Amino acid sequence: MSSKKFFLRPAWLAVCIFIASLLFLGLASADPSEKPSPPTKRQIRQPRASGDIRIETLLNNKELQALGEKIFFDKTLSDPPGMACVTCHDQNAGWTGPDSAVNLAGSIYPGAVAARFGNRKPNSAAYATFAPALYAKMVEGEILFVGGNFWDGRATGNLLGNPAADQAQQPFLNPVEHNVKDGLELVRLVEKSHYAKEFVALCERLGLDTSLDDQSQARIKFGYIGLALAAFENSGKVNAFTSKYDAYLRGKVRLSPAERRGLKLFETKGKCADCHPSALGPRGELPLFTDFTYDNLGIPANPDNPWYRMDADINPAGKNWIDEGLGGFLKTQPQYAALVGANLGKHRVPTLRNIDKRPNPKFVRRYGHNGYFPDLESIIHFYNTRDTKPFIKGIGGLDTQGKWPKPEVAVNVNKEEMGNLKLTQKEEEDILTFLKTLSDGYEVK
Ligand code: HEC
Ligand code: HEC
Repeated sequence: MSSKKFFLRPAWLAVCIFIASLLFLGLASADPSEKPSPPTKRQIRQPRASGDIRIETLLNNKELQALGEKIFFDKTLSDPPGMACVTCHDQNAGWTGPDSAVNLAGSIYPGAVAARFGNRKPNSAAYATFAPALYAKMVEGEILFVGGNFWDGRATGNLLGNPAADQAQQPFLNPVEHNVKDGLELVRLVEKSHYAKEFVALCERLGLDTSLDDQSQARIKFGYIGLALAAFENSGKVNAFTSKYDAYLRGKVRLSPAERRGLKLFETKGKCADCHPSALGPRGELPLFTDFTYDNLGIPANPDNPWYRMDADINPAGKNWIDEGLGGFLKTQPQYAALVGANLGKHRVPTLRNIDKRPNPKFVRRYGHNGYFPDLESIIHFYNTRDTKPFIKGIGGLDTQGKWPKPEVAVNVNKEEMGNLKLTQKEEEDILTFLKTLSDGYEVK
């Protein structure tokens, strides 16, 4: 049956009219009086995948996705064993850290060697595969960086063609995370796992040249491990697009009045959508709530960060360590050396999808790259009042002399889009209510 005829049958016609009317209801509830805020230099068209057809094919390969899922949950791939990706990236916590007690203490996770801590909060592992490879772009006379994975963009995507694939190799070798000696050792561990046969067979089907010596083969297999993890992260299991807001954009549900007010504030007075885009893309793509650019919000240092207490072999700067973000990474890249200063203190805009996802209402999640903010209320209040009001006791954050503490990195702080938004308490609450519509797993009733 041709699809044309299929849709012309009366029963289907009725269904179509029903769906169309639902769509209309969805649009109608989007408040027609609402004008989109004028484009700013932040509103770079949301980049999608690189467009590299081979990488796209690999990231969408079902077998590679299934293999990546096994690796993601495999606790034998660490030294000592016991740590997997899921240890710090759990679906029930929005693909970030699943330990409420660790989060309460600042959201910085211990590694496989339990006395060793990292220096930043885990990003969400979801929606990370959409980041384009890191590149610099001229926008209104200013050079802005876009793309990459990690808060500082150091997983650029230039190694394996996708930032999430580059990223996925790194936790294994990080002494404060999985602590595996090197890529060859990791391949050895994978080849001892319960899915070893599947791994080797798939590498060969995807083109591994078995006439190469073992070391060369292992190097390529290490690449496939990164690609498999990125493929899993690229699957519908991780990039689910099943939030209430997605259902709303698909015309399947209406937002409550408070959610609608929050959405409007998010896109207008709050300026949030300047960097966390919330609208459908030009071809109807669902929004990612990040434009993958970089900014310094002026977030204070988090004195609870256990990194300050690490030994000199892990953290040579000790208590004087400063998180320089993208600028710190650019210091290691000769081609970008002239751009270091303009990027000190900048971190990659994170997705806000699943920002309030938690296994139970009491579960603590902290916010910002260093977990400075103890809850969503306090980071929204920070955007609103950073440059004006003294700190309000009881709403969250860390109280120092009744004011927001000074930024960790004082240069490059964004003063144009935040700091004095003049939102009322109720408007802050409405934005929070809207953010709660971004959790995946919503079921349309
Ligand atoms: C011990 C905790 C820990 C483990 C284990 C861990 N991660 Fe992470 N992950 C982090 C932290 C912390 C960051 C942010 C680090 C930074 O930006 O410097 C991060 C960042 C990421 C990001 C970046 C997302 C983005 O939007 O840029 C991805 C993707 C990710 N991890 C996936 C993985 C995968 C895949 C594994 C397993 C191979 C893994 N992680 C294991 C803590 C962990
Ligand atoms: C100029 C760009 C920009 C604007 C405007 C902006 N954000 Fe952000 N947002 C960022 C960046 C960059 C980060 C990460 C900063 C960091 O951790 O150092 C961030 C982090 C966050 C986080 C924490 C995410 C996490 O995983 O910890 C939340 C929540 C958030 N923003 C919500 C909002 C809301 C709500 C608004 C509007 C009131 C807003 N943002 C406006 C750029 C922006």
